[in-house]
Amino acid sequence: MTTIAVQSDLVSALSQKLANRTAKVGVVGLGYVGLPLAVEMAKAGFTVHGFDLSAPKIDAIVRGESYIPDVPTAEVGELRRSGKLFATTDPAVLREVDTVNICVPTPLRKTKDPDLSYVVSAVEMVAKHLRAGQLIVLESTTYPGTTDEVVKPILEKTGLVAGRDFFLAFSPERVDPGNAKFNTRNTPKVVGGLTPDCTKLAKALYSASIECVIEVSSTRVAEMVKLLENTFRAVNIGLVNELALMCDRLGLSVWEVVDAAATKPFGFMPFYPGPGLGGHCIPIDPFYLSWKVREVGFEARFIELAGQVNGAMPHHVVDKITDALNSHSKSIRGSRILIVGVAYKRDIDDLRESPALDVMALLKQKGADVSFHDPFVPHLSEEWPGHQAMDSVPLTDAVLERSDCAVIITDHSAFDYDRIVANSKLVVDTRNAVKRLSANVFKLGAPGVRTRT
Ligand SMILES: NC(=O)c1ccc[n+]([C@@H]2O[C@H](COP(=O)([O-])OP(=O)(O)OC[C@H]3O[C@@H](n4cnc5c(N)ncnc54)[C@H](O)[C@@H]3O)[C@@H](O)[C@H]2O)c1
Repeated sequence: MTTIAVQSDLVSALSQKLANRTAKVGVVGLGYVGLPLAVEMAKAGFTVHGFDLSAPKIDAIVRGESYIPDVPTAEVGELRRSGKLFATTDPAVLREVDTVNICVPTPLRKTKDPDLSYVVSAVEMVAKHLRAGQLIVLESTTYPGTTDEVVKPILEKTGLVAGRDFFLAFSPERVDPGNAKFNTRNTPKVVGGLTPDCTKLAKALYSASIECVIEVSSTRVAEMVKLLENTFRAVNIGLVNELALMCDRLGLSVWEVVDAAATKPFGFMPFYPGPGLGGHCIPIDPFYLSWKVREVGFEARFIELAGQVNGAMPHHVVDKITDALNSHSKSIRGSRILIVGVAYKRDIDDLRESPALDVMALLKQKGADVSFHDPFVPHLSEEWPGHQAMDSVPLTDAVLERSDCAVIITDHSAFDYDRIVANSKLVVDTRNAVKRLSANVFKLGAPGVRTRT
């Protein structure tokens, strides 16, 4: 039998298994991205085997429990009972599956260089169990060329050839935790394979569980698509953050300006200022691109500038707090400052890169007595930049009254902002959460209400 005939047999065997849902699907890394994907694929009828190094996560899934807010425990329980979802810390399962989606972290090193160590170790694990006919898809956000230059050589050390003996693709994850409208199923998915067969198989895998799958011509294009999306957000947030600082100086409300501009039905898309970037994507991903293009002698100026503007926002929040306390003849040193909301965005529990932690660390350095309340984050371990384990305090009227200043960093929808304003001596609002203005409210990017003398 010729090599081409063997390859086409492998393609048609996997295509058939994907079409009739008899394929066993593997997911490596069951975090914010991997667990929702595993659940969606199991709901589509595949038998899904999740693999993660974290024993507590695996134990939770085995018990039928979810630890990701967007994934209901009832769904995990139901899929466990129906024998569609399995989870293990034993990598041997990777040999049994027909497809593997890799959803491990891609952080930055302290130097802002990409840290591909999680991807490399996950791919090495996959390589140990690789067999002919498998489809491997990388989902972790990364720079263009990773699938081709990093993942493929590790897998090919086995002697199997990508595109011939096994299939390789990249498909960026676009999940937006906490988004009530768009989820894994109804967010279109981009796929780019190493060869047309790789793309075809990856498309077949996703089409079973995702409403719209878009093919692109290569793994590099698919990698770059994700970096464009997140760089677009980082740059536009940088622009509007700078506009907030301009409005502050000019005595205008940036919130009113953006909302009025957003009435233009074409050519404008609103972005809102805030206390700084957070999460595992926007503060990190653009630097994967700027690092990569430095290799070809290119300086990614927009990315660097947006990084500087966005990175300075926690300092501007501290300036606002200083102004607010100053209006009561107080200094930051010795003031009791309550941070309201520490997750990096509304209605989620994710603390990664949260600007609240930077604001809190700066306030602590200046001698403030800092506490926090967050209904999604009961406890801060010592690992945040302030290095102090802390528990969330209850948001009672008494706690508000006792604080010299309440600082709204994360605008969770459960908060009663009128009550916060009514019971606080001072409120600094970094999210435009407070709609009814009063003399004790200081907003980022907006003038305060002047009291008559
Ligand atoms: N969180 C988001 O909103 C989001 C959105 C789009 C894309 N992404 C990207 O998706 C990727 C994953 O992000 P996440 O938020 O799901 O991360 P996460 O930290 O929530 O989950 C990653 C999981 O991978 C596991 N893991 C690490 N190394 C492993 C290994 N060698 N083998 C098996 N499991 C391993 C960890 O234990 C963890 O459970 C990143 O590249 C991220 O940039 C994230």
